[in-house]
Amino acid sequence: MDKGSPRAIHLRDYAPPAWLIDTVDLAFDLREGATLVTSRLGIRRNPARAGEGPQPLVLDGQDMELLTVAVDNRLLTSDDYAQGPESLTIPAPAGETATVEIVTRIKPEENTALEGLYKSSGNYCTQCEAEGFRKITYFQDRPDVMAKYTVRIEAERAKYPVLLSNGNLVDQGESADGRHWTRWDDPWPKPCYLFALVAGKLVHIEDHFTTRSGRDVTLRIYVEPGNEDKCGHAMESLKKSMKWDEDAYGLEYDLDIFNIVAVGDFNMGAMENKSLNVFNTKYILARPDTATDMDFLGIEAVVAHEYFHNWTGNRVTCRDWFQLSLKEGLTVFRDQQFSADMNSAPVKRIQDVQRLRQVQFAEDAGPTAHPVRPESYIEINNFYTPTVYEKGAEVLRMYHTLLGAAGYRKGIDLYFARHDGQAVTTDDFLAAMRDANPDVSVDWEQFRRWYAQAGTPVVEGEGRYDADAKTYTLTLRQTLAPTPGQPEKLPMLVPVAMGLVGQDGQDLPLRLAGEDAPAATERVLLLTEAEQSFTFTGVASKPVPSLFRGFSAPVKLRFAYTDGDLTFLMANDSDAFNRWEAGQTLAAKIILGLVADRAAGRDMVVPQGFVAALGKALDRAGEDTSFAALALSLPTESYLGQLMEVIDVDGIHAARDLVKAAIGRTHRNALLKAYRDNADTGPFSVSPEAIGKRSCKNACLAYLMAAGDEEGRRLCLEQFRTAAGMTDVITALMLIADSDMPEREDCLAAFADKWKGEALVMDKWFSIQAMASHPDTVKRVTALLSHPSFSIRNPNKVYALVGGFSSNPVCFHAADGSGYAFLADRVIELNALNPQVASRMVKAFARWRKYDGERQAAAKVELERIAHTPNLSRDVYEIVARSLE
Ligand code: ARG
Ligand code: ZN
Repeated sequence: MDKGSPRAIHLRDYAPPAWLIDTVDLAFDLREGATLVTSRLGIRRNPARAGEGPQPLVLDGQDMELLTVAVDNRLLTSDDYAQGPESLTIPAPAGETATVEIVTRIKPEENTALEGLYKSSGNYCTQCEAEGFRKITYFQDRPDVMAKYTVRIEAERAKYPVLLSNGNLVDQGESADGRHWTRWDDPWPKPCYLFALVAGKLVHIEDHFTTRSGRDVTLRIYVEPGNEDKCGHAMESLKKSMKWDEDAYGLEYDLDIFNIVAVGDFNMGAMENKSLNVFNTKYILARPDTATDMDFLGIEAVVAHEYFHNWTGNRVTCRDWFQLSLKEGLTVFRDQQFSADMNSAPVKRIQDVQRLRQVQFAEDAGPTAHPVRPESYIEINNFYTPTVYEKGAEVLRMYHTLLGAAGYRKGIDLYFARHDGQAVTTDDFLAAMRDANPDVSVDWEQFRRWYAQAGTPVVEGEGRYDADAKTYTLTLRQTLAPTPGQPEKLPMLVPVAMGLVGQDGQDLPLRLAGEDAPAATERVLLLTEAEQSFTFTGVASKPVPSLFRGFSAPVKLRFAYTDGDLTFLMANDSDAFNRWEAGQTLAAKIILGLVADRAAGRDMVVPQGFVAALGKALDRAGEDTSFAALALSLPTESYLGQLMEVIDVDGIHAARDLVKAAIGRTHRNALLKAYRDNADTGPFSVSPEAIGKRSCKNACLAYLMAAGDEEGRRLCLEQFRTAAGMTDVITALMLIADSDMPEREDCLAAFADKWKGEALVMDKWFSIQAMASHPDTVKRVTALLSHPSFSIRNPNKVYALVGGFSSNPVCFHAADGSGYAFLADRVIELNALNPQVASRMVKAFARWRKYDGERQAAAKVELERIAHTPNLSRDVYEIVARSLE
């Protein structure tokens, strides 16, 4: 691995390009095995580098055959230019401007990495972000080079009746030999990562949206024939997004056409190419019988996310890839706000925090921890991470919290006023937020540390009530552990939204010592020092503090709440998020206590107080079913693992199962009643009410199954066999697959038989088996690799089966190392086919040092085996090298 280790790229080395590219004219001649790409670039010396004298034009390029190069219509010979393995250097053209024409030949049919131009079930499509454009033609493949594009696509008409690119269709026609062509013109300058091309046999649904200034926009969703009936929800989501962005941000769509194409082979979720979004089918196709409520919500969120990128990403883009969170953090925050407005805001917030903790906190605590704005990378595709996306969104939420909705909006408006049409940095964004709010006293230099320092801050809190003085003093201490490359950290600026809950369950007025203004019952304290105290006056009786309401900062709170405090907050906190949080904190405390008992050889006894508190949540289920479903669910095994010094794989599983069973037994009748009360959701709908009823019902069913209840099992089987919607069917199947019921195999077989023709549904079937906590899981998963519906070349299949298995908290971490060996084999296989997917899979090893010695040894053997694989991709190398450091 040492020989020729890939080199890191550093933010500090950023320099503007020597040449700008103003226009790009592309011609694609699509032919099986030999696609010709002709690129005509209008280039201009970059005035920003005027003093430096004539500079060569250095272009990026990979995996292509270079045919010809011409400058100002003069053909160069191969002696004139220099071709490196990943570059083409053309000597400095004489004038201020020049025209460069390059012809290359590529083979999209052989592109298994799904980056650049490739084929997905017979159709051509592209994925250029981050650096895929360089696999299509030689170019300055960097986001600060923005150009206007015109594109001509020619292909055989019978096989590729649909030919699409960005912008407006300006011309089309027939050519010889049954071929045809289209010509596209995109008036908006864009970086090459937003270029897209699609050619194939596709059908579409069409709708329209009229923008607030009266522009009629044609909306189309293209899919493979047979899927037309699964596009309705995506189209509704698109229209809602367009309206919401006008209302909430004052941002309007800027072309007459907006196309979405759904493809089955796609590395990520979706891509915001200008006016031609390309989506993973997972985030478009949905019908009540094929998609779950989570799928429907996921489609709404991702369609919105990609649409919102039109302003936050496309109109204003990133200067370099270190700034990725400029567009991703902001756009995730925007899609979170949108989904909160469309559905239940507290439920959305809880789900977002669950995800943040599950994946981002884990990342922050391991060898791949990095700041929201990284300082260096080996392979940029490795940085499309929960930190850049989800923690980045938390940073945006903190601006919103610190500035208030109106101040936040002023900052956004200034950002667009200053930077529309530019490629900028997170510092530019911060400056706009700051300058638009001169009256807000926040130390923005300190706030900037959220971009620069990796790791999750820990905030320890302590409260002291003085009954004589009627004061309550809250002391907060923050620490931030070292992360790779960052041994020393400085204190963060932490917004603490909080309240004090009085003994009657009501929020108390909050007046800090020295204040006389009328007191609010909720406020945002600014923790800026390593340790700070806040003294509240006029506090009539001892309160219970409710801290980080709505999860106002991405930190871990340590506060010595008693079980009584937590049950009190579960019942009384006026902040829905913290009512849920109190239950989670209590559950974690109880379960980890049992894990400790088990490890010490003591009997595990589930405390009745906790079971009773959950019973209360169940009694209130009717008030808000969605919230109840979340309040009833226990922290996941992987989250519980994060709370342990050394993760006790089997202990956590055993303790959590025991608690589930105890709840199922104790509350049997209430669970059965809640199940029945919520069984009928009327005609199918994905309204928050209908989704809430289903999630509540299914949470109850899970407890009954955990208790092995006979009636529960009967209801589960009945639900599997008769339910009309996929949410109910798949939940039942998952519970059955996780049980020892004799019907298990028959149910799995019946499901596969029914759905073998629906790829996305089969993904669910694969992941259910991969995630089952059965002793035979690794064997079964190995066998499933040869199932006719599985393909190692399809990312969704890999994520379902291999990714599902590597997130299995018990079987992946089997003490004999069989799970680790299985994953390493797949990573090595994928490394040669699709490095991005391989790299995503290998990340499951990253936290290997959190496990016991035996497991560590087994994981290390596999990581080293991967490290010694010949031709290891940059993608996999970077993660493995970091993991072994
Ligand atoms: N910009 C896309 C999105 O967030 C993600 C594309 C990532 N692609 C990649 N190859 N890393 O919507
Ligand atoms: Zn995005």
